[in-house]
Amino acid sequence: MVDLAPRTSVPDPTGPGFIAVLNGPNLNLLGQREPEIYGRDTLADIEQLCADTASTFGLDVRCAQSNHEGVLLDAVHDWRTAAVGFVVNAGAFTHTSVALRDALATTTGPLMEVHISNVHAREPFRHHSYLSDIAAGVIVGCGIQGYRFAIERLVAISPLAPREA
Ligand code: DQA
Repeated sequence: MVDLAPRTSVPDPTGPGFIAVLNGPNLNLLGQREPEIYGRDTLADIEQLCADTASTFGLDVRCAQSNHEGVLLDAVHDWRTAAVGFVVNAGAFTHTSVALRDALATTTGPLMEVHISNVHAREPFRHHSYLSDIAAGVIVGCGIQGYRFAIERLVAISPLAPREA
């Protein structure tokens, strides 16, 4: 039986602002999956890195990973107006999903697209992204550090980010 329950939670409107971090299919296998391409860090390491980075700006994170397109759409719908911004590594859905693109086009905060590997140095089918032209920025080939860079950039550009008084 496939568990379609999203690994998401609806944000507390009284809590700190948050960055939404979405990871798509097969990224739950990081650490075991093609380590020569993706390295040895795990999804848990990425989510911890994101939490640590966001906390330096007084922000929380909400993280979701799914192998199911609709579950990722539901996470975007849950968080689309509340998140300071979205960090999205949609995995293979990057190259296939108009539906995920359409959902991410509705978010209030900006989107940063992240890929661990340099997709442009790989197979031609990885060169096209349905997300890049609606993203504020795209980070590829920086390993899991790319997620940190993406959060730093969101804090710099999002109208919903906390600002010094
Ligand atoms: C990826 C690149 C995609 O082409 C691939 O399908 C992935 C991972 C990356 O992080 O490098 O699953 O998004």
